[in-house]
Amino acid sequence: MNIQEIIEQIKTIFFSKLPSIQNREDVEKLRIEFLGRKGNIADLMAHFKILPEEERRKFGPIIQKIRSEIEQMLSDKESVYAKATPDDSQKSFFDVTTSLSSELKGTKHIFSQVVEELEDIFISMGYDIVYGNEVEDAYYNFTALNIPENHPAREATDTFWLTKPGMLLRTHTSSVQAHIMKKGKLPLAIFSSGRCYRNEKTDATHDFMFMQYECMFIDTEVSISNLLATAQNFLRALFKREDLNIRVRPGYFPFVEPGVELDATCPFCKGGCAFCKKTGWIEMFGAGLIHPNVLKMSGIDETKYSGFALGGGIERLIMLRHGIPDIRLFRSNKIAFLDQF
Ligand code: FA5
Repeated sequence: MNIQEIIEQIKTIFFSKLPSIQNREDVEKLRIEFLGRKGNIADLMAHFKILPEEERRKFGPIIQKIRSEIEQMLSDKESVYAKATPDDSQKSFFDVTTSLSSELKGTKHIFSQVVEELEDIFISMGYDIVYGNEVEDAYYNFTALNIPENHPAREATDTFWLTKPGMLLRTHTSSVQAHIMKKGKLPLAIFSSGRCYRNEKTDATHDFMFMQYECMFIDTEVSISNLLATAQNFLRALFKREDLNIRVRPGYFPFVEPGVELDATCPFCKGGCAFCKKTGWIEMFGAGLIHPNVLKMSGIDETKYSGFALGGGIERLIMLRHGIPDIRLFRSNKIAFLDQF
């Protein structure tokens, strides 16, 4: 989402909430939500600050204007309810400003919204939705994926091992692959998503718990063209841009060969913006053709069958779309942050 869209969204939310104000308490709540230190305008400013000079000059006055309008409308409302404040003699009997607390409306969490959106796209391409386990056996998370015993990802400094030997918190959704392959039903086309865990220091783009999505397709004669066509259709549907194109760069994942990092043309601009760092391309996910060892280990005849898999981060998708600057905001327990979705 670009800054213009964020500004429009803030306005829409504000104007949809303004009529529900019933007393001074509601005015204050809205003031905190929009003008508070951690409010929507403050979030907008954080986004604004990283814009290039030229865009800052353009959007600075617009943001100032919306801030003053919000301030004005809230103080107008406040003065209406200030007049309705009872004097002390009335207060002992009743409080005329009291009202039923305005209805608190819940919404689906942004993770649920995005997962449903991704699932809808893959269902429309004929995929089945499957669910994996967050507590996983090292065999499915590593060994069955051709990740050798001495691979650094297995270190306790990277993976949360459980006290039960050989058990861990899965580090990626690729752990569903061997579970599904072992069922022996071919051809197969599955999509899965869910929480993953890595023992790493958090920063603006890394958390120790995050969400991933994964798709896998296996049939006879599956080639890299099938992967590229699927990836392009998926991304076009996700970003609702029919002109979106993709490119691949070599990437290494032990469970695919060849492995690629897949980029898409920036869905937010035509030719360069802050999201794509003026390159016009944005990295989307890792992918590749399933390594023959992986097929063989799960009992699939690798001389007859081939397949592809792709997988990426869900927070990363949301951060891109909504211009969220820091992944830690998702679990910061701020209602105002979650309310924006
Ligand atoms: C994988 O996890 C592969 N399983 C993806 C894959 C699937 C490749 C199928 C090939 C075929 P990687 O480690 O790059 O790859 O993670 C994929 C994405 O998960 C990253 O691009 C990022 O968006 C997200 N991710 C990984 N680690 C973290 C983290 N600590 N915090 C937040 N997001 C993360």
